[in-house]
Amino acid sequence: ADESIARIGVLTISDRASQGVYEDLGGPAIQAYLADVLITSFECYACVIPDDQSTIEQTLIDLCDNQGCCLVVTTGGTGPSKRDVTPESTESVCDKLMPGFGELMRKVSLEKVATAILSRQTAGIRGETLIVNLPGKPKAIAECLDAVFPAIPYCIDLIG
Ligand code: MTE
Repeated sequence: ADESIARIGVLTISDRASQGVYEDLGGPAIQAYLADVLITSFECYACVIPDDQSTIEQTLIDLCDNQGCCLVVTTGGTGPSKRDVTPESTESVCDKLMPGFGELMRKVSLEKVATAILSRQTAGIRGETLIVNLPGKPKAIAECLDAVFPAIPYCIDLIG
């Protein structure tokens, strides 16, 4: 593999999107955002999986340890519903949590929608990979990434 090309995991976590009940809009929105902000070329590993903790953990581990992603961005499963387990899955595979990402994303999101308080989105580091959770709503993707993106390349530099 070409080591000079950054690999980025884009993980949509949704029972319904993974069953084809609705189209995955979040994953493509993340890829479009990255294509817009990144000046260097990158390769995306996109997956759509159900809200199942062991599936989420195994997929995150694979993207970090086997696919060599420097960044994994997830969308969905951050809310309070019974099936929402993305933050737990993220925390369980990470060596270090980065609570500032969730704090800042909730703060800026709350200026737009009162329901932003319902997202438990977090971030953390596994090995040399930064994992960042976003809510499932496609419009939340740019709202959240605009706030934290400036810190992402620097964070990846520090852990690599
Ligand atoms: N954050 C932003 N920026 N924009 C949004 O529209 N929706 C909220 C919240 N955070 C929202 C947001 C809603 S309605 C919910 S239920 C939670 O994210 C959790 O969403 P998830 O379970 O799809 O991850």
